Amino acid sequence: MKRTWITVTAIMTVMTSSAWSGGYTRADRILDMQKMAESLKDIQSGLLYNNLDIIKSGAEMLKETIVKVRPIDEEVNNKDIYEKWLNNHLKMTNKIKKKIMQRAEILEERFADGDAVQALQEYSKIMEQCMKCHVQLRKW
Ligand code: HEC
Repeated sequence: MKRTWITVTAIMTVMTSSAWSGGYTRADRILDMQKMAESLKDIQSGLLYNNLDIIKSGAEMLKETIVKVRPIDEEVNNKDIYEKWLNNHLKMTNKIKKKIMQRAEILEERFADGDAVQALQEYSKIMEQCMKCHVQLRKW
C-alpha cells in the first residue's frame, strides 16, 4: 500500500512537472485561442451548410486545442500571479476545459443523430464557456 502511494506520488510529480515544464508562452496561447475561434467558425459553417464532416473537423480541432490551454510561463514563473492562478483560477480553468470538451463531443453526436437544433444549443453553450473565462477569469 505504502509503495503504491509512493509510485502514485512519483507519477503525479512527473506528470505535473512535465505538464508545466515551460515552453508555453503568451504567443502560443494566443495561437491556441485563434485556433479555437477557427474551430467554432468551422462548426458554425457545418451547422449552416448541414455538413457533418466540417462539424467533426471543427470539434476535433477544438478538443485538441482546449486541452493545451494553461497558465503561460510568465504566470508560472511569477510567484504571486502563479499562486493567484493556482488558488483562484486553475480549478475553474479545468472545469471550463472539461465542459468545452464534453459539449464538443455532444455537439458532434447530436448533429450526427440529425438533431441540428440540439447541436446548435451545444455550440452556444461552448461559446458561453469561452466567455466565462474571458469575462470572469480575465476580467474582460
Ligand atoms: C482558461 C481561460 C480561457 C478559456 C477557457 C478561453 N480563453 Fe480565449 N483567451 C484567454 C486569454 C488569457 C486570452 C488573451 C491572450 C493571452 O493572454 O494568452 C484569450 C484570447 C482569446 C482570443 C483573442 C486572440 C488574439 O488574437 O488576440 C480569442 C479569439 C479567443 N481567446 C477565443 C477563445 C475561444 C473560441 C474559446 C473557447 C472555445 C476561448 N477563447 C476560451 C483565456 C481563455
